[in-house]
Amino acid sequence: MMKEKIYIFDTTLRDGEQMPGVNLNLQEKIEIARQLEELGVDCIEGGFPAASPGDYEAVKGICDHVQCSVAALCRAVKGDIHRGWDALKDAKKPRIHTFIATSPVHMEYKLRMQPDDVLRRAADSVALARSLCADVEFSPEDATRSDPVFLYEVLQAVIEAGATTLNIPDTVGYTTPEEFAALIKGIRENVKGIEKAVISVHCHNDLGLAVANSLAGVMSGARQVECTINGLGERAGNAALEEIVMGLATRPNYYKIGHNIKTERITRVSRMVASITGVDVQINKAIVGANAFKHEAGIHQHGVLANASTYEIMTPESVGITASGIVLGKHSGRHAFAQRLKDLGYSFSAEEIDEAFVKFKNLADRKKDVTDRDIEALVGTELVEVPEIYELVSFQIQSGNTIMPIGSVTLRYKGEIVSEAAVGDGPIDACYHAIDRCIGADMVLESYVIRAVTEGKDALGEVSTRVSFNGNTYAGKGISTDIIESSVRSYLNAVNRALADHELQNPVKPAG
Ligand code: KIV
Ligand code: ZN
Repeated sequence: MMKEKIYIFDTTLRDGEQMPGVNLNLQEKIEIARQLEELGVDCIEGGFPAASPGDYEAVKGICDHVQCSVAALCRAVKGDIHRGWDALKDAKKPRIHTFIATSPVHMEYKLRMQPDDVLRRAADSVALARSLCADVEFSPEDATRSDPVFLYEVLQAVIEAGATTLNIPDTVGYTTPEEFAALIKGIRENVKGIEKAVISVHCHNDLGLAVANSLAGVMSGARQVECTINGLGERAGNAALEEIVMGLATRPNYYKIGHNIKTERITRVSRMVASITGVDVQINKAIVGANAFKHEAGIHQHGVLANASTYEIMTPESVGITASGIVLGKHSGRHAFAQRLKDLGYSFSAEEIDEAFVKFKNLADRKKDVTDRDIEALVGTELVEVPEIYELVSFQIQSGNTIMPIGSVTLRYKGEIVSEAAVGDGPIDACYHAIDRCIGADMVLESYVIRAVTEGKDALGEVSTRVSFNGNTYAGKGISTDIIESSVRSYLNAVNRALADHELQNPVKPAG
């Protein structure tokens, strides 16, 4: 029986959200936070309240919706700490997370501060944070490129000032497992009072070592790991939560430490985060990539059929991948559908089930076998409601290899019908231009990804788009058995998000 547990600190909504092209609204952040809590994370870093009003509101909103610990990031600056506390103070378990860089390069060129001043600022900031909040985390940014002796001094000073967690960031993903383990060991051996604080690790993935470095930190005595779902984060991202947790779960005799994560919820949360952020998971990504549990080679298939442990070190079920057998079809009733939703872990209201059931029936008319994965894709877009400022009424295309593609789109806007047609490089491009005309605004399409949800010719096509508008990026999703329809719905979904965000419900008088 493993008594000791690793504390999982999820920073998807803070460091993950700093990823270029990811821009979540309040409702999306709250939904992700709720799912993270269901997953069992111990602490959710909700944002950086002093950075923007949106981050401030997000931290406040998350505090109202979860019971677990909520952290807010603050620079080691008085104003940031007060603002952070203001956003956090209604949380059941608030945590102020304050940081300042300690590496020579950051101190000289970014902070333009002398080491002594950095040390004093770190201690004063922690003391201020501690006067407001009992739970205070301190991070010496760029710790792995800092002088270890100076790092020890700073850590000792912040412990004396009341820090309860000391987080050691590998900010630029520079360290190696052996070196990082030695750094954590050095901290444990050289920082007076270290036993009063929890040591945490926070690794970036620039050299592909974020998870390995984090686990090396755990082996060396760290008891909190900071990570993100799907490894989201700036540049190459942060350590992936699912990889850390499944590492601990798959090798219990090696790591000898427990955790609170309900691993069978991992796949669902991963898919939901991919869907809301619009950042798809790489196909061969460990644990949550589409191929992670697929065996192609005959020799592997044979082995797995004879005995799963030949090639499987963990079961698909342990991360929540259910057999994607045929579950429902066009004769299935509302009761069977509602039960399936429940079995898949969704807790929808009767009204939401009714809405999802209409979509299911439409799908079952076009697709013979509706699998669990189809149902997840169908309702995944329901989890976060996007106001349908512009609603799709109909679309038509004319296309071929000898004509200029034309798309016509009819939308409903505040009860009025708006129709436009446009030409484009292809039928999808033409429809997107027609939508731009209907709404009277130019959105820039940043990315377009299409994938089949399941196998087969009648598979659902899921289109993820990202559009930029007024300097922000918005993700959209659309699914249908018709890929032009998925494409149109996806773009409109992103457009509606953008318009809702900017409160531009009346942007330009609709044409047509
Ligand atoms: O990577 C980093 O250094 C950070 C800190 C603010 C913890 O994200
Ligand atoms: Zn970071």
